[in-house]
Amino acid sequence: MIEELLPPGVTSSEAFDDAAPAPLFPAEAALMEGRRARRRRQFATARACARRCLTDLGGRPVALLPGPGGAPRWPSGVVGSITHCEGYRGAVAARASTVSALGIDAEPVGPLPKGVLSLITSPEERAELAELTSADPSVPWDRVFFSAKEAAYKAWYPATGIWLGFRDATLALSAAGTFEATLRPPVPTPVDPVYRGRWLVGPELVLTAVAR
Ligand SMILES: CC(C)(COP(=O)(O)OP(=O)(O)OC[C@H]1O[C@@H](n2cnc3c(N)ncnc32)[C@H](O)[C@@H]1OP(=O)(O)O)[C@@H](O)C(=O)NCCC(=O)NCCS
Repeated sequence: MIEELLPPGVTSSEAFDDAAPAPLFPAEAALMEGRRARRRRQFATARACARRCLTDLGGRPVALLPGPGGAPRWPSGVVGSITHCEGYRGAVAARASTVSALGIDAEPVGPLPKGVLSLITSPEERAELAELTSADPSVPWDRVFFSAKEAAYKAWYPATGIWLGFRDATLALSAAGTFEATLRPPVPTPVDPVYRGRWLVGPELVLTAVAR
């Protein structure tokens, strides 16, 4: 599914369960010690997806350990992103010479838990959501919104190391399957704060991806 959202030069791999064997490197396995079985399985399957991306790019399937802020540390010269949720594990990667930033996010279809929408959107964004909902109530627009902001954050963070809350981003969402996220960091950075991406909704999943 995710490949539909990606530009040329970005490789992807995804899984919808944890059935395939997904061995971990010792340092990764150590990280998962004491974690719940579900988290361990999701982590391992998503790592297997990420390693398939690396070999697709002609690289070696190395251990991918988290850096500061939880972002995976990809090998030098590679950018990538990982996501997992109920029923989905996925990874994308590209040569940094071709693509400078990647972010993906998966969410289950269905409304956000009560109270979350007002925490992640401005009044203007809620007006935009109301318009989108009245034009097409079949799309879980609030989930798409949430997911698109997370995808933008995953592309932003590795380049800057700056944490941003959901209200530090303004999202413009198009019914045609694209979006633009404008991030507002608390300090100036040389990194362009505007990220464009694509979204799709399947029967059970919302997927978003940012690439530039
Ligand atoms: C980091 C965050 C985006 C992860 O999203 P999530 O829906 O909870 O979980 P997902 O399964 O989709 O993604 C988890 C993966 O994202 C990656 N990730 C975690 N932190 C990251 C970061 N700071 N930057 C980039 N990628 C990150 C990791 O690969 C992680 O999986 P792993 O721990 O198995 O390696 C989310 O927990 C968060 O902190 N959000 C707050 C910040 C934000 O989204 N702001 C939006 C406005 S800019």
